[in-house]
Amino acid sequence: MKSSLLRLWFARVIVLTQLIHGALSWGKEGHYTVCKIAESYFEEETVAAVKRLLPESAQGDLASVCSWPDEIKHHWQWRWTSPLHYVDTPDYRCNYLYCRDCHDTHKHQDRCVTGAIFNYTMQLMSASENSRRIVHYNLTEALMFLSHYIGDVHQPLHVGFLGDEGGNTITVRWYRRKTNLHHVWDNMIIESTLKTYYNKSLPLMIQALQANLTHGWSNDVPSWESCQLNQTACPNSTVVDVFRYASESISLACKYAYRNATPGTTLGDDYFLSRLPVVEKRLAQGGIRLAATLNRIFSSKPKLAGA
Ligand code: ADE
Ligand code: ZN
Ligand code: ZN
Repeated sequence: MKSSLLRLWFARVIVLTQLIHGALSWGKEGHYTVCKIAESYFEEETVAAVKRLLPESAQGDLASVCSWPDEIKHHWQWRWTSPLHYVDTPDYRCNYLYCRDCHDTHKHQDRCVTGAIFNYTMQLMSASENSRRIVHYNLTEALMFLSHYIGDVHQPLHVGFLGDEGGNTITVRWYRRKTNLHHVWDNMIIESTLKTYYNKSLPLMIQALQANLTHGWSNDVPSWESCQLNQTACPNSTVVDVFRYASESISLACKYAYRNATPGTTLGDDYFLSRLPVVEKRLAQGGIRLAATLNRIFSSKPKLAGA
């Protein structure tokens, strides 16, 4: 009796702590969507490498572990990973510069989402190139972190302003519910979309995005995928590409997320319907780019840009 009461109390504390800490990054649904879309664009070698690296608990499905970095980031032994989910720019600066912006609150350089993407891409690449040598990185964790952070960098407010912590301190109402602007972009837009258009079914929403990728967005997909360095060989374009993803996000944050969303605003149909296409496109882009990155890491073929 005593121990079950204690467990109940403990569970409440955990739920409360998560509520206080507020937003996870793109909610569970957002990360699942990005990784599910990516899986359908994996080349054969990528499918095999990912299967080999995934933990047993994933049962061969990358999408099922794509939110893992959010689940662990408040545990004390993983606290060092918390600043790796985002990068903030000086207030009202709608551009992103790696050297200026990629640091944590203690000004430690490279400790931000784009720095983390470089780091985990490098770990997986060097292991893939030196597959006979012993590698000291934990590549299972590297794969799960990389897949998660590529999703995060596509959430516009994960490249937001320093002063409002990417919208976390901007209190707004989403219809009648009190929340904050960051949470609207991580969760609420997706949640309302599922309720309004997909009978609360995430697989149906993913299917619709995949259909749009093969029809509506098909002409854009090649330009999303890789760096466009004049048709020259593009062996390690990560630096250029990740710079582009973060720059796009802060632009979208300024143009769509922060606009008409000052503290105390009630956001309803106008905001929802005009921002939904942005969220849909960012989820799809995140998926395409995660697949392109992993294909580049695990493929043995040299790639030509624009090919
Ligand atoms: N904390 C501070 N800035 C943040 C951001 N842009 N996204 C998520 N959490 C944050
Ligand atoms: Zn995150
Ligand atoms: Zn977030």
